[in-house]
Formats: sequence, C-alpha cells, structure tokens
Amino acid sequence: MPSERFVDALNAQVAREFAASHQYTAIGAWYAGETYPQLSAFFYAQAEEEREHALKMVNYLLDTNSPVNLTGVEAPRASFEDHVAPIRLALEQEQSVTVSISELFEVARETRDYRSEQFLDWFLQEQTEEESSMSDLLAVAERTASVPMLLEEYLARETPGQHPAE
Ligand SMILES: [Fe+2]
Ligand SMILES: [Fe+2]
Repeated sequence: MPSERFVDALNAQVAREFAASHQYTAIGAWYAGETYPQLSAFFYAQAEEEREHALKMVNYLLDTNSPVNLTGVEAPRASFEDHVAPIRLALEQEQSVTVSISELFEVARETRDYRSEQFLDWFLQEQTEEESSMSDLLAVAERTASVPMLLEEYLARETPGQHPAE
C-alpha cells in the first residue's frame, strides 16, 4: 500500500484534476456563449479528459486499498476579457499541474514507492502532450488575435500539439 503521505498527495491531485475539469467546462461554456463552436468543443473535450485523469487516480487508490477522499471544487473563472485569455489561463493551469504531478512523483520516490512512480509516468507524458497542445493553440490564437475566425478554422482542420511528421 502506498504511504499515507502519498495517498494524501494523490487525493489532493484528484481535487486538482476535478478543478481543471470544472475550469475547462466553464471555458467551453464561455466560448459557446460567444459563438466559438470549435473552441467550445475543444475545451469541453479537455474537461472530459481531466475527469478521466481524476478517475484514473481514484481507481489507483481503490486498487491499492487506499482511502478515496473527494473534496469540494472551487468555482472556476467564468468571464474573460477576450477570446485569447481562456487559452492563456489553460496553459498556466497545465503548467502548474505538471509541477504538482512532479511533486507527487517526488513523494513516491522519497517513500521508495516504485509502483506509484510507475503509475505517475503516464501522467507526466500526458502533461507533456497537453502543455504542447495548449501552447500551440495559444501561439495560433495570438498570431490570429485580430481575426478570431482564423483560430476557429485552424481548430476545425488541425489537432493542436500534433506535429506534421506524426
Ligand atoms: Fe489532468
Ligand atoms: Fe490537463
């Protein structure tokens, strides 16, 4: 069984994944309200992914006979000054999740919990992908800031984070 310290830290991460999901739902709804259907769909899909991350963690707690402690989730930010701001917020959120998952990894290492280290590998890889897709999206959003529909067209055509040689 993972250490109590790791279990507490993983439960805290579950809360952050749900908070991320909640924030992406708020962003998806904001874009829908502003009539950006592609951006709205993109963020709703991200919200689903964050919920899946939380559930993967819950399942790991269950698999290791550890307590699952769900907490309340804070209200997300729901209003934005322009159509680029939510993407900036999303990138900051992904970067801070990468830091917290790395801290979780450190707890596993310090407690010689190799199984939990291995479990976290997938999440670290996932963070690399999510940071990459969000920073691609932000780059295109900033480049096309004065013609927002170009960003919608880009999203209809491309998958942010995917490189041409992939
Ligand atoms: Fe996540
Ligand atoms: Fe994420």
